[in-house]
Amino acid sequence: MKTFREEGREVPAVRDVSFEIRDKEFVAIVGPSGCGKSTILNMIGGLVAPTSGRIEIDGRAVTGVPPNVGYVFQKDTVFPWRTVARNIALGLEYRGVTGTEQERRVREGIRLVGLEGFEEAYPATLSGGMRQRVALMRTLVVDPEILLMDEPFGALDTHTKLNLHAELLALWEAKHQTVVFVTHDLSEAITLADRIVVMTRRPGRVKMLYDVALPRPRDVIKLRESEEYAREYGQIWHVLGEEFAGARL
Ligand SMILES: Nc1ncnc2c1ncn2[C@@H]1O[C@H](COP(=O)(O)OP(=O)(O)O)[C@@H](O)[C@H]1O
Ligand SMILES: [Mg+2]
Repeated sequence: MKTFREEGREVPAVRDVSFEIRDKEFVAIVGPSGCGKSTILNMIGGLVAPTSGRIEIDGRAVTGVPPNVGYVFQKDTVFPWRTVARNIALGLEYRGVTGTEQERRVREGIRLVGLEGFEEAYPATLSGGMRQRVALMRTLVVDPEILLMDEPFGALDTHTKLNLHAELLALWEAKHQTVVFVTHDLSEAITLADRIVVMTRRPGRVKMLYDVALPRPRDVIKLRESEEYAREYGQIWHVLGEEFAGARL
């Protein structure tokens, strides 16, 4: 449970939220705006403490930012005064990875997100999709075991979003980080996740835990034409749609 103080009152953001995430699992959290998705992610990432209850990673309570966790936010958080290569190097710098090892990992990271040729470019000269690739790789380059993503593609157009879904899935197939991906976009959640946590409107509770029974590897374009996809979408929307309908924002 998490409450925030607002004008002297305790306002609940999430309540009775309890679920477990398996090692290497890709979990999406979906729900209407304001239902507490970011709050849950921030608690997992040690940025916000729960008011009651606890978050555990590998059986240990989270009390600060865990060392093996990487965070990607919606608002692209790349630094405008650093080049693509220097932005990606940042996480490595924090961890004291320097010299040729740093260079090697930055080069590899740039290749993995298809930004070769843009090493020395500044973020202002890039598209939104490219900037989010930089932000993603800056987090992945340090090899986190747990990846927390808060609507990372929320500001992108559909085409760019699909491209990034395909890239994220390819990167995940290679490393199998444990991913917690927050989104209000159900199609995005189905495309990416093994399991979906469906939240109620605020104050958020867990309404349903849904296993996505779609085989991998997934083709992000073809998937959407398939009957299986339509069936999964329909089943979840049946439950989630009520929450969107009832949300007063
Ligand atoms: N730092 C904060 N102070 C006060 N209220 C907050 C704070 N962060 C979030 N809230 C409130 O908690 C609720 C859940 O917010 P949030 O986790 O951001 O939802 P979501 O990410 O699902 O849109 C909202 O009602 C929001 O206004
Ligand atoms: Mg949010």
